[in-house]
Amino acid sequence: MNDLERHSIVRLKQYTTLRVGGRPLLYARPRGYSELTAVLRCCRERHLPVRIMGGGSNLLADDGDLPFAVIHIRSPGFCWIRPVAPATVRVGAGTVLPRLLAYCREAGLSGLEFLAGVPGTVGGALAGNAGAWGAAIGERFARAWALDETGNKVEVAADGMAFRYRSCDLGRRIIAEAELELAPCDPELISQRMACFAARKAQVHPTASASAGCVFKNPPEAPAGKLLDLCGMKGRRIGGAEVSRLHANFICNVAGATSQDVLELIAEMRDAVRRNYGMELELEVRHWSSTQEAA
Ligand code: EPU
Repeated sequence: MNDLERHSIVRLKQYTTLRVGGRPLLYARPRGYSELTAVLRCCRERHLPVRIMGGGSNLLADDGDLPFAVIHIRSPGFCWIRPVAPATVRVGAGTVLPRLLAYCREAGLSGLEFLAGVPGTVGGALAGNAGAWGAAIGERFARAWALDETGNKVEVAADGMAFRYRSCDLGRRIIAEAELELAPCDPELISQRMACFAARKAQVHPTASASAGCVFKNPPEAPAGKLLDLCGMKGRRIGGAEVSRLHANFICNVAGATSQDVLELIAEMRDAVRRNYGMELELEVRHWSSTQEAA
């Protein structure tokens, strides 16, 4: 970490499900709390903006050199699951959702089946209150342990998160581990529910393609996918980025898309809905711009 003038050799496209993203000023994958604290303090001393990455599944990072540090919560020190009460699990923030769901299925713990087929890590899912089929992960949240921007460990109670549709009040805190409250249930029944949700998802979403999930939040009036579909956006392509032919609220990287391709397509999608319906679509994917200051 001595030479921060040169960008990291890591390109974020290696880690994002959209397969887009350039080189942050610093890329760190801390092995545990003490390394995470050390990296945060180092960035703070150098006035380096910090971005946190989990599964990279809801992320559009610009190509080229990025003016911030990326801390990737994915090392084994943050990927673990422990029972702490008959129906409560404590889970490291870097644990991927499919692994957590497999654990729940085997342990006979119900409550997260709706996440079957959803990529990403527990930390990312909590930060964005990931949801599907009318349920969201925040409903199962009991408490978390996070680091604030100075690297101090803090406990976050359920009412400190204020979960909303695809967001919460986490602010600049970084979730390191969380407890989820589940309900005992027959493993066979859990397994059937998961299979059913995963099959439903595979029917309506382009799960086999490189994407960052739904591009826009659903406005209260109508689903963004439906509006974009009615605007004729399915199959619209710019460079290597294409609006999914299956679901118009997904952009797929079909042939080495650049972030510019994706951003131009996003602008077109927004324009189409604005012109036809007078509505302003709000991004659901997080955009890490190479020009903006860290949010
Ligand atoms: N629709 C169309 N054309 C399309 C896409 C959708 O007419 O191209 C219609 C569908 O037929 C349906 C309605 O729009 O009547 C809603 O579509 P869908 O059931 O696919 O759900 P969605 O509202 O597009 C939301 C979440 C998804 C989540 C699903 C399942 C948002 C932005 N999206 O999608 O979450 O998996 O419900 O519950 O809230 C994500 O967050 O990345 C994501 C994929």
